[in-house]
Amino acid sequence: MDDRDDLWEAFETELASVSTPRDLQSLRDRYLGRKGGRISGLYAELATVTAEKKRELGARLNRLKARVEAALDRYAEKLASSAPPPPRLDPTLAGRQPIVGHIHPLTYLRTRIEAYFAAAGYEILDGPETEDDYHNFEALNLPAEHPARDMQDTLYLAGDVQGQGRPATLLRTHTSPMQIRYMEAHEPPVRIIVPGKVYRRDDLDLTHTPMFQQVEGLVVGEDITMADLKGTLSAFARELFEPDTKVQIRPSFFPYTEPSAEVFIGCVFCHGAGCPICKRTGWLEIGGSGMVHPAVFESVGYDPDRYTGFAFGMGIERIAILKYGVDDIRLFYENDLRFLEQFPL
Ligand code: DAH
Repeated sequence: MDDRDDLWEAFETELASVSTPRDLQSLRDRYLGRKGGRISGLYAELATVTAEKKRELGARLNRLKARVEAALDRYAEKLASSAPPPPRLDPTLAGRQPIVGHIHPLTYLRTRIEAYFAAAGYEILDGPETEDDYHNFEALNLPAEHPARDMQDTLYLAGDVQGQGRPATLLRTHTSPMQIRYMEAHEPPVRIIVPGKVYRRDDLDLTHTPMFQQVEGLVVGEDITMADLKGTLSAFARELFEPDTKVQIRPSFFPYTEPSAEVFIGCVFCHGAGCPICKRTGWLEIGGSGMVHPAVFESVGYDPDRYTGFAFGMGIERIAILKYGVDDIRLFYENDLRFLEQFPL
């Protein structure tokens, strides 16, 4: 019974070498286990001593047991607090940015143009990119040999009306043939826009690509005037550029309009102060327009004495170049993500 001091020392030594909760549990079993535990064994011995001794020894044994229990508990706490925390999710970490594509700036611009005119009651159409000579030229008051055909260098697919007298198939040089196609099939009133690809025999440079996009507009009715043309284009320019963007129309020539006008907007870069982009004029050209020529009405069977109308044609790339301040049209077609990703669409 008197070996209890040795027991405490033995316990302390063993405790010092415990490093896992498992070791600790086995130490606890070895000393306090009901069966075979060393301290439990000492309690069994109490039965063999006198009642007086039993009281004294029992009290000492109780203290020893309490001390061992307390030491084990303290050690368990120590083990728990020094254990490395299990790896866990850090909810404060910034998430990984997923790579999300977006639509091409030209598509975006075209969609915005369409949305504007759709809201104003226009029908949005596309048409064939392969055209015949009649719709691309002839019916637009551009007969064979007409010098104005040289305004656009044409890509012919078959035949060449110039000199050969054969009907030609070609890639449309403008969206204007859809004016003819639509009026052939519909009676006035007409309110349409036609966005789409057009083709010209041009070499690539800062401002030319052999394929580009236009948006054609055509409005026909009984009392349509040039004021409607200017009002329509002005409202459109204010919507697409800036709320105070001005439109100017200047006399020009197109065979399918009379009078004809070039459409300018106030320079969006210098606001009229004069800069290299507007060549110090304060104005930027965005397209052509005019009042539909009576000869065009005649080719589609509209009565030119009854109906009037206006038409316009604008380059979508041209508008994009001006709107976004891009200095090379080719960038829109090279698919370089460093360029495309700059558009906050
Ligand atoms: N078709 C012309 C071009 O490609 C643009 C144009 C001018 C369209 C006047 C029109 C118009 O409808 O009235 O340059």
